[in-house]
Amino acid sequence: MNRMSDFNKITFESLEISEQKEGQYFSATRIKSVGELPGGDLLVKVAWSGLNYKDALSASGHRGITRRYPHTPGIDAAGTVVASLSPAFVKGEEVIVTGYDLGMNTSGGFAGYIRVPSAWAVKLPAGLSLKESMIIGTSGFTAASAIFEFIGHGIEPGSGNILVSGASGAVGSMAVAMLTKNGYSVIASSGKPELSESLLRLGVSEVIGRYALNDKSGKGLLPVRWIAALDTIGGPTLSTILRSTAERGIVCNCGMIASAMLEVSVFPFILRGVRLVGIASADTAMARRLEIWKLIAEKLKPASLENMYRIVGLDEVQHELDLMLEGKQHGKIIVLL
Ligand SMILES: NC(=O)c1ccc[n+]([C@@H]2O[C@H](COP(=O)([O-])OP(=O)(O)OC[C@H]3O[C@@H](n4cnc5c(N)ncnc54)[C@H](OP(=O)(O)O)[C@@H]3O)[C@@H](O)[C@H]2O)c1
Repeated sequence: MNRMSDFNKITFESLEISEQKEGQYFSATRIKSVGELPGGDLLVKVAWSGLNYKDALSASGHRGITRRYPHTPGIDAAGTVVASLSPAFVKGEEVIVTGYDLGMNTSGGFAGYIRVPSAWAVKLPAGLSLKESMIIGTSGFTAASAIFEFIGHGIEPGSGNILVSGASGAVGSMAVAMLTKNGYSVIASSGKPELSESLLRLGVSEVIGRYALNDKSGKGLLPVRWIAALDTIGGPTLSTILRSTAERGIVCNCGMIASAMLEVSVFPFILRGVRLVGIASADTAMARRLEIWKLIAEKLKPASLENMYRIVGLDEVQHELDLMLEGKQHGKIIVLL
């Protein structure tokens, strides 16, 4: 078989979201065929996928994420190449596909197969298994993208404290585990006091409450508390973090859980030379993407990875996504296909 269409009759299980009535969405597992998948020069048999907040939005009819239904979400997938029209990949190779349009308007990883442009695929780096790549997934890749920025900015383990906000979340907990493994001194901010002990066990030097990052004094600058930060929250949290960052420090923001708006004066930038960097993991250019996955495999892969996940089947995914929307999840959920 050497044409893509030769594989069209292969069938597999997928999670499919359809619109029942306007604004009402229904989720069910369905047997699909490869012929129903979108075009692409790489056909991958998916071994593992993982849950992300974007999947919860896609599965609940969020048109900013997914325009057309029926649709199979899943922005992360890892598996084995079954057919390739690209000289860059051969049958049997293990690959990771995260981000780009996967699971948004392209049939995603909550399925036995995906067909995608080969330009989206990363060869599984040495030092990672397919399963580990999905425990890390987009959230770990996002955390690692921020650490990649810190390293590029000259931040080393002895440089000073690194703040991570939303530390119990998927991105935050990966960032904490990756940073502590590499000897950085981490301050974790969390709204869940019951998780303080486990954060301290991960090697965090201090846990602060969520509201410690909600300064309303109106001051342009606050006392210095860290040299670098990964903020997943946005809004007043990001404003407080920027105003508390040391001279020539760096703040990476990836999220807007509190607010998409940022109210801050230019003082952190023009008086302390603080740098604010946005993280846009889905569209990371391939050369940089490869460097970040290599960094993950060689240095950042958390020592505690084995304790950081739960495995679910396709039929349990919708329930887990619902809990995610309600803010009741913690820890990584991966899907065995
Ligand atoms: N830009 C990118 O490339 C990229 C990639 C992945 C994710 N993201 C975004 O990054 C953000 C975090 O993603 P995630 O997957 O880590 O989400 P998550 O697993 O839902 O975790 C978010 C964490 O934020 C904290 N939190 C929840 N509600 C809050 C509130 N009202 N105010 C302040 N903190 C609150 C909680 O941590 P504590 O209880 O510990 O405070 C929660 O665990 C999201 O906005 C997501 O869309 C962006």
